[in-house]
Amino acid sequence: MTNSPDHAHHGEHAHEHGLDHPDVERDRFGNPADLAAYLARLEGPERTEWQKPDEVVRSLGLRPGQSVCEIGAGPGYFSLRLARAVGAEGTVFAVEVEPRILAVLRERLSQAGTRNVVPVLGFPDDPLVPPRSCDLVLAINAFHHIPDGTAFLRRLARTLKPGGRIVNIDFHKHELPVGPPSDHKMAREDFLQHARAAGLDLAEELSLLPHQYFLVLRPRG
Ligand SMILES: C[S@@+](CC[C@H](N)C(=O)[O-])C[C@H]1O[C@@H](n2cnc3c(N)ncnc32)[C@H](O)[C@@H]1O
Repeated sequence: MTNSPDHAHHGEHAHEHGLDHPDVERDRFGNPADLAAYLARLEGPERTEWQKPDEVVRSLGLRPGQSVCEIGAGPGYFSLRLARAVGAEGTVFAVEVEPRILAVLRERLSQAGTRNVVPVLGFPDDPLVPPRSCDLVLAINAFHHIPDGTAFLRRLARTLKPGGRIVNIDFHKHELPVGPPSDHKMAREDFLQHARAAGLDLAEELSLLPHQYFLVLRPRG
């Protein structure tokens, strides 16, 4: 079946457009088992068009010296850009749960001579970032991997400095030309339910991206 021309064609097409194959095998962290192909897709130049990474980082309005935590940093597509935005006096905690991916990130940081990113091997249910240490916590295409969203968001809220925010950018839960299959995604409304249960309110929503919601949350009260 998987060798049929249809599947072969779908595979090529999917790869070209950064779409995960619907019945791809996944590891315990929700990543496709073929790690090399997955990382190539995350870092591929064709992603820029719909992911608009520089516009996303600009829209966050980060200032030099600020401290950011990226949940599910992967091989560093956003972490390296965030590191430039907060500058040498700022810090990026790049939290990743898969040790082999964290190793790729470390290698990239070393190659780039980047010294303001702290790679963190988190627990699946805890990013292990100190309390009240972050101006911004950011998750990009990562939250749909988290098993207990409400509990995880409560932990994230504790890592915020007073006035800090949490930003979640993730795929809309319907068929898209890029990203994982729909049954692997978290709908915007489901995410917001977790957020409300964790004591976070929607403060702002940006419509910058064609395939993803972009939500800014702040602790209630
Ligand atoms: C689709 S990738 C996105 C990577 C990166 N944010 C980007 O946009 O290129 C999701 C990442 O989240 C990581 N991940 C999954 N569960 C996690 C958890 N509980 N804590 C931290 N990272 C997690 C995965 O290992 C994977 O590297």
